[in-house]
Amino acid sequence: MDILKHHQIYAARVFTMDQALDLSCSTLFLTDNVLRGSQIVKDMAALDICNIVDIIDPDQIFSRRESHAFKAIVSDVSFISSSTIGALRQHLDRFQDNRPPLFCLLHESAARSRAQAHALGAFQTLPATRAARLLPAALSTVGVAIAHQPESLSIDRKVALANAALIRLFHVAGSGGGVTLQALTTAGEIVETALCSSNIRGWLEVVWQFDNATHQHCLLVAGLAAAFGRQLGMSRADCQRLTHAALLHDLGKSRIPIAILNKPGRLNTIETAIMHEHPALGHAMLGGQGFSEDILTVVRSHHEYLDGSGYPDGLTDTDIPDLVRLVTICDIFGALIERRSYKEPMSGVKAYAILESMTGKLDMDLVHAFRPLAELAG
Ligand SMILES: [Fe+2]
Ligand SMILES: [Fe+2]
Repeated sequence: MDILKHHQIYAARVFTMDQALDLSCSTLFLTDNVLRGSQIVKDMAALDICNIVDIIDPDQIFSRRESHAFKAIVSDVSFISSSTIGALRQHLDRFQDNRPPLFCLLHESAARSRAQAHALGAFQTLPATRAARLLPAALSTVGVAIAHQPESLSIDRKVALANAALIRLFHVAGSGGGVTLQALTTAGEIVETALCSSNIRGWLEVVWQFDNATHQHCLLVAGLAAAFGRQLGMSRADCQRLTHAALLHDLGKSRIPIAILNKPGRLNTIETAIMHEHPALGHAMLGGQGFSEDILTVVRSHHEYLDGSGYPDGLTDTDIPDLVRLVTICDIFGALIERRSYKEPMSGVKAYAILESMTGKLDMDLVHAFRPLAELAG
């Protein structure tokens, strides 16, 4: 059969489930199309660490065996058929309580397949069309190392690495752990390196493809902040502080329920009140861990307005430092140009017009300085 020939060409190893569990490879790659799955694994140069299992082959379903060898599971399964979902679930169930994190490649953009991935307990979802580019960095968040040459990384890979670093920050913080200065510095360096080799538009184009609303937002804001700092001629140290503050500004959202964070459309009064807790939550989470006071202030005060109408403290004018004012502008602009499956994206020009209309609330000198960046993002 042709497909068997392709197995030999594209995938050095296509295993049965039991064979896969016997091996000490770090990633279990479950697919309903071995030819396609093998090509993805080959494209990300991970043949030596991925065990590819065809979920459609009934011979590949066995009783549960020891599964501790795997650090991650990748699902390359299309969610349009209930039989393939059932076959995937059967494989996943074999891990019982010891299941490693599941990364779902989405073959359909519909919210339904995203919901299906979450119902299966996905740790992260990624668009299947960009799997080879995004998956290595995603897997690195759970300790799967795929060799790469940093100097030759494309903008896609750099953004994926920044996303991976951000996910790690949120994951640690969300599970009650401490965010380290080192982890933040690494994430900040990746953002800055990426923007050195591309422009803000290149950064946005990749970030817009991310499925997770909070991660997409934080990366948009971090990229905008890094580019804004550079455009303003800030010193390297100040640029770094600005990028770090932008990366962390919404960390408190790691403690807000997903249903509220990802709700399409408007939040009701109760949901809004819960959402408004995120600046104080983030501030409390980062306190006493070696972060500078100005970064903590950004985390707490990025929703404050000069006229006192913001939250959580209703600060006014001189109480709001420059670093906060800069992040607030990037934050509002970033939120306006976000891409969501359920709404039309707003152009940079239109989003900038909204910033300009916020006289009295935002620092208009800084808003005007932001204009060239907004036009680039258009
Ligand atoms: Fe926020
Ligand atoms: Fe934000």
